[in-house]
Amino acid sequence: MNMVRTIADLRAAVSRARGEGKRIGFVPTMGNLHAGHIALVKKASQRADFVVASIFVNPLQFGPNEDLASYPRTLTADQDKLFEAGCHLLFAPSVEEMYPHGQAMQTIVRVPGVSEGLCGGSRPGHFDGVSTVVNKLFNMVLPDLAVFGQKDFQQLAVIRTMVRDLNMPVQIVGEPIVRAEDGLALSSRNGYLSANERTIAPALYRTLGQLAETISNGNRDYPALVTQGQQTLQAAGLRPDYLEIRNAVDLQPADAETRELVILAAAFVGKTRLIDNLLVTSNPASL
Ligand code: PAF
Repeated sequence: MNMVRTIADLRAAVSRARGEGKRIGFVPTMGNLHAGHIALVKKASQRADFVVASIFVNPLQFGPNEDLASYPRTLTADQDKLFEAGCHLLFAPSVEEMYPHGQAMQTIVRVPGVSEGLCGGSRPGHFDGVSTVVNKLFNMVLPDLAVFGQKDFQQLAVIRTMVRDLNMPVQIVGEPIVRAEDGLALSSRNGYLSANERTIAPALYRTLGQLAETISNGNRDYPALVTQGQQTLQAAGLRPDYLEIRNAVDLQPADAETRELVILAAAFVGKTRLIDNLLVTSNPASL
């Protein structure tokens, strides 16, 4: 696996691969890779001949009081993991390479609708930063397909909408959440948790699971279920940011007619904000 730091070197390496007739798969990341990221790389290598990963901690998607400075940067370990997973090329640009004219005057790609509310409500500007950097990265790599994790369910919806609305010729592939044995969704931010917080954190997934089961059993009283879920999270020692039951297709609030649902939550364990989600199909027969 080669690593390149500049857009010029990236373009040269990708166009060599394309010249050899290879299909290009892309996995954008912010590094500090775990098994969830590796699943994305493996999915890309099943579907493409030449896999490019990027590691870039994108300042544009962090709010002023968020963890940009402390976000874990583990490039050497990440390189080994990518190599083992079958990645062919790593693009690890500097902030200056990505934003040579500064961030204040950067053209912004904004995806209305799906980027609003949920994480977009709690983290103003976050999805503008994500859609802008992913747009830039797509223009640099020109991939045939790109793989994103479903843990960031809203992010995946934002990217799919951007690609559709801007007619971008890239296929977006979603990869299921990878979880620890106790159900906690893998995340680079899990590394912030103290030993005690780590024992509390799986309650997030457990709570989503309980709600999903109640819905599958025919309960459609979503406002009551949300209140119940928030109370369960609080009782377990988490501080809910949001807990919502939405239509999994368009992220609109779910009603009794919605079949494909997603329960989405963000909650703090100490100072660490964790997100998770669970898809649930409501059963018409139980109505
Ligand atoms: O999911 C992430 O790691 C980031 O939001 C992404 C897609 C790499 C954009 O910076």
